Amino acid sequence: MKHFLTLKDFTKKEILEIIETALQIKRELKTGYYNSELKNKTLAMIFEKSSTRTRVSFETGMFQLGGHALFLSNRDIHLGRGEPVKDTARVISSMCDMVMIRTFKHSMIEEFASYSKVPVINGLTDSYHPVQLLADYMTMIEYGINENAIVAYVGDGNNMTNSWMILAAKLGFELRIATPKGYEVESEVLADALKIAKESGAIITVTNDPKEAVHGATIVTTDTWASMGQEDEKEQRIKDFKGFMVDDLMMCLAKKDAKFLHCLPAYRGQEVSESVLEGHAKIVFDEAENRLHAQKGLMVWLNKQR
Ligand code: CP
Ligand code: NVA
Repeated sequence: MKHFLTLKDFTKKEILEIIETALQIKRELKTGYYNSELKNKTLAMIFEKSSTRTRVSFETGMFQLGGHALFLSNRDIHLGRGEPVKDTARVISSMCDMVMIRTFKHSMIEEFASYSKVPVINGLTDSYHPVQLLADYMTMIEYGINENAIVAYVGDGNNMTNSWMILAAKLGFELRIATPKGYEVESEVLADALKIAKESGAIITVTNDPKEAVHGATIVTTDTWASMGQEDEKEQRIKDFKGFMVDDLMMCLAKKDAKFLHCLPAYRGQEVSESVLEGHAKIVFDEAENRLHAQKGLMVWLNKQR
């Protein structure tokens, strides 16, 4: 049995296998065929933070696969009023076949997984958002951008940046990260990524200059400047991130025909301009739709490992 907590625990072959499964499930769905490999299975979805895409994609995905998903917000279950994680894990995993968790501390899902009898999927923690990266790479493949990609991430050093670093390191593409001073990526994750990159040949660089990162990139991506849980810092961050908005001028520095990705939700006029987001709406909303297909691929793949 395997959990899906970070991409660190997966080989390049496994990551590509999951994405290949997702691409196949998507192709089949578009012809009207519903793969029902998870018939009679249930997915418990624990949400301690809000969500649009993650909830809709997991719930719809599980239903389309013949199973059922339970939405458990921490306002509804006893976890929110102090029932220990290890007890919650033992109870839920004795009844459900898979668990997806969106929470704050990454250590919470690690603890949950260590007590769970069934696979646990990270639906976002303060440290990582690996299911998003499955959808992002799937989208890159669909748009013909692969290991030769030069990805420029411009913005906050956060859970998305950590996940991009691990993905690039595993798959062997070039990733350039530009953050403002004081908002750099976590040094431990960077060190891990650089270690993995030695084997794959990935190039991972960090800078405080967005222009340097974007110059000649084939993909430019960003994320909100204030993640969930950082709402109080929003005003300060808007000041500190001056010059980091991905706008048309910044996109001009990238390669001709460079693509823009955003995990969404997007804050227009902050990390991305209205014009860049709307100009790249096709790929950005394909990326969002791919959350559904990527996670179906992941759940089918994890179910096969049991
Ligand atoms: N990208 C993403 O995870 O979106 P939600 O927060 O809406 O789930
Ligand atoms: N970094 C963002 C990602 C949202 C999908 C957050 O954690 O809020």
